[in-house]
Amino acid sequence: MNLPRALPWLDERRSALLAEMGVSPWWRPRALLPRPPGGSDTATPIGTTVRAAPSPHAGQAMQPGASTPRDPTPRSDPAAHTDLAALDWPELEAAIHACRRCGLGACRQQAVPGVGDRRPTWLIVGEAPGEEEDRQGEPFVGRAGRLLDRMLAALDLQRGHGVYIANVLKCRPPRNRNPEPEEIARCAPFLLRQIALLQPRIVLALGRFAAQTLLAEGGCLSPEEALRTPLGRLRGRVFQARLGALTLPMVVSYHPAYLLRNPADKGKAWVDLCLAADTLALTEASAAGAAG
Ligand code: URA
Repeated sequence: MNLPRALPWLDERRSALLAEMGVSPWWRPRALLPRPPGGSDTATPIGTTVRAAPSPHAGQAMQPGASTPRDPTPRSDPAAHTDLAALDWPELEAAIHACRRCGLGACRQQAVPGVGDRRPTWLIVGEAPGEEEDRQGEPFVGRAGRLLDRMLAALDLQRGHGVYIANVLKCRPPRNRNPEPEEIARCAPFLLRQIALLQPRIVLALGRFAAQTLLAEGGCLSPEEALRTPLGRLRGRVFQARLGALTLPMVVSYHPAYLLRNPADKGKAWVDLCLAADTLALTEASAAGAAG
């Protein structure tokens, strides 16, 4: 694909990465814009900036401690949260590796807790390990993972550097079938404990299982609403998810495996990544403003 070479905000490497993914970078995060002289960010974005949809829940600035817009029935087992609340990283990983909370423990080669920086800025959450992940013990190492890596690289991000990657399910469902609600309910407390330990500054939920789980757990949508809302209506918005003691901005996007099957939607995924990068930059700027 021939990209316009004169695009001012993307260097050749990023343009090449996006071209390789089949994305025309008609939209880019403000965070990657060159700063105009004088410091104020007045450059006009090309294309349409996706804003939070006018929903009663999405895009609300919710302070820690404020009441949730809705109090959903937790999808995961509250007793399991209590069990895990005191675990540190080695204990948590050991618990994941030893887990037999659902039937998947019996058919995995190994559990896949997650990988990356344990003080990350970004937390990326996928669905469940696939065949390759089950073999290697690391999330997103197959074809979908390579696409994810290229998308991250286009934002100057790299797994392990300010990024942690995990899945909702820590064990591979047989033949890569969809996770069962019961499996999610049993496994989600591991992810929630990881989030408490990681304290990321933004969450990117990839695919409907990650979106449904985190939106319901985070009090952004009721579990029923999360289940019935198509992913296309959840993406392109910024949610504030209350996950344990943290209130975190969260953006939902397409799963890389879906994008491999539906390359026409890669551009939308890029828009979502840009939205997340912009949200992070704004959040950090307002935190720095409040501190200083
Ligand atoms: N798909 C996922 O959701 N997670 C992985 O780790 C691999 C593929």
